[in-house]
Amino acid sequence: MQLQVVDHPLAAAALTVLRDERTERQRFRAALHDLATMLVYEAARELPTMPVSVTTPLTTTTGVVLAAEPVVAPVLRAGLGMLPAALALMPDARTAFIGLARDEATFEPTAYLESVPADLTGRPVFLLDPMLATGGSALHALGLLAARGATGVTVVSVVAAPEGLAALERSGLDLRVVAGVVDQGLNDVAYIVPGLGDAGDRTFGAV
Ligand code: PRP
Ligand code: URA
Repeated sequence: MQLQVVDHPLAAAALTVLRDERTERQRFRAALHDLATMLVYEAARELPTMPVSVTTPLTTTTGVVLAAEPVVAPVLRAGLGMLPAALALMPDARTAFIGLARDEATFEPTAYLESVPADLTGRPVFLLDPMLATGGSALHALGLLAARGATGVTVVSVVAAPEGLAALERSGLDLRVVAGVVDQGLNDVAYIVPGLGDAGDRTFGAV
């Protein structure tokens, strides 16, 4: 598993807004969008391209297009806060929706939505979820994607816990993780510390 932490002053400033308990919902969504733009930009750095001819007002030269249609897979709910940034950068991407809710007693995810293209073979896939805590939700989502032929998935997270990263590593899956930060660890209710709290609730309101 490859891990890349995006170390950039603008990313660190957006993360600070997200961490701040005083940040209200609208500003939280805006900061999440900004940080997701930076993370997805880095995550997309290795997308394969193919050369095309392009005619400028002056001459003809060589440009590129993406070699394969990317797939972006937000994990609902909180991953939806990263989706507009991903689609702004990759407007022709296909979207796969994965709905998971973590049981706050067992910390195990329960699936409630699975709207994923049937064949992901050969497609660059980006799993979007701001929080990688125990890693249970990401592993569940990665299992769904792998069952449809996805390989080399890039997990894009705002805050990753060492425990979640270790769980992904132990899975043996061929993965890349692009994160805004790796935090200290989990508390006794599996929240990331210092973290930013409940990302879904802070983005959309408590349910
Ligand atoms: C949060 C978060 C991840 C998951 C991380 O979602 O967005 O999906 O928890 O925890 P894990 O790594 O221990 O599985 P949650 O289940 O709270 O749902 P929500 O986004 O609808 O609030
Ligand atoms: N889910 C969240 O939204 N935040 C955490 O810290 C852990 C899981």
